[in-house]
Amino acid sequence: MAHYYQRPEVQEVADCIGDSLALAQQAAKTDADIIVLCGVHFMAETAKILCPDKKVLIPDLNAGCSLADSCKAADLRAWKEAHPGHTIVSYVNTSAEVKALTDIVVTSSNALKIVQSIPADQPILFGPDQNLGRYIAQMTGRDMDIWNGACHVHSRFSVEALIALKREHPDAPVLAHPECKQAILTLSDVIGSTQALLNYVKAHPEAPKFIIATEVGVLHEMQKACPEAIFLPVPPEVTEGVGCQCNECEYMRMITLEKLYDCLLHNSPEVFVAPAIAEKAIIPIQRMLALS
Ligand code: 13P
Ligand code: SF4
Repeated sequence: MAHYYQRPEVQEVADCIGDSLALAQQAAKTDADIIVLCGVHFMAETAKILCPDKKVLIPDLNAGCSLADSCKAADLRAWKEAHPGHTIVSYVNTSAEVKALTDIVVTSSNALKIVQSIPADQPILFGPDQNLGRYIAQMTGRDMDIWNGACHVHSRFSVEALIALKREHPDAPVLAHPECKQAILTLSDVIGSTQALLNYVKAHPEAPKFIIATEVGVLHEMQKACPEAIFLPVPPEVTEGVGCQCNECEYMRMITLEKLYDCLLHNSPEVFVAPAIAEKAIIPIQRMLALS
């Protein structure tokens, strides 16, 4: 199984590719004995929680996520204790320990629908992505308390570069992931999850150009869907001292074809989730799947 942000050659050998929601759904229904998750660690953990009797492998255990790292379970517990009576809505980009403290998990594909399903008078704590949280609050009119985490890839797109791209290509729609900061979303024509952005491209095969504000791995599938179209990725802000000045997630890129080969050869490295955590974490994940 591979996420759309994986290297093209990894996507090409996968049996299924998808966004976070699709990968969780596929994991929940597969009858395979072993799942190899080509994505980041929280995705493999989610698969393991859903399939405790299966072996879940990830080609590199170090493939983490800056957003998941921005919310430690101890800090979430303190936030929760300071807000009794609130419903805890957590993005899937979280550790198993954070999910175990959560009432309902969301992905960018279903966050809007799930927040709308919560009674209007029920107060909500939403975490950890502040950009997705703000976007969902705007769309639903809900006054949610929002954690201040962010994805380092989606929050670093350059507003100036996007304005320049729009000036140069006024006919190209701007497609952005809701993990992007407000100024990028304000300048966008279409806001949606990785799958929603891909669906938009597939529904517009006649469009000559698209400006894309999300992780560039998805361009592989977009280009396959519309081989004639030109995809213009929004570059990140250039920050002194920061190693990666591109719009790739370096955690996603830790998964290489060579590591995948070794992983299949040795059935390792394996992902484990402590049973006491897994039995709590599965509840908000299953609530999400039931509403998706
Ligand atoms: P989706 O796959 O839900 O669009 O999330 C994007 C992301 O950043 C995954 O890590
Ligand atoms: Fe995490 Fe951002 Fe990478 Fe997605 S793109 S895995 S949210 S760091």
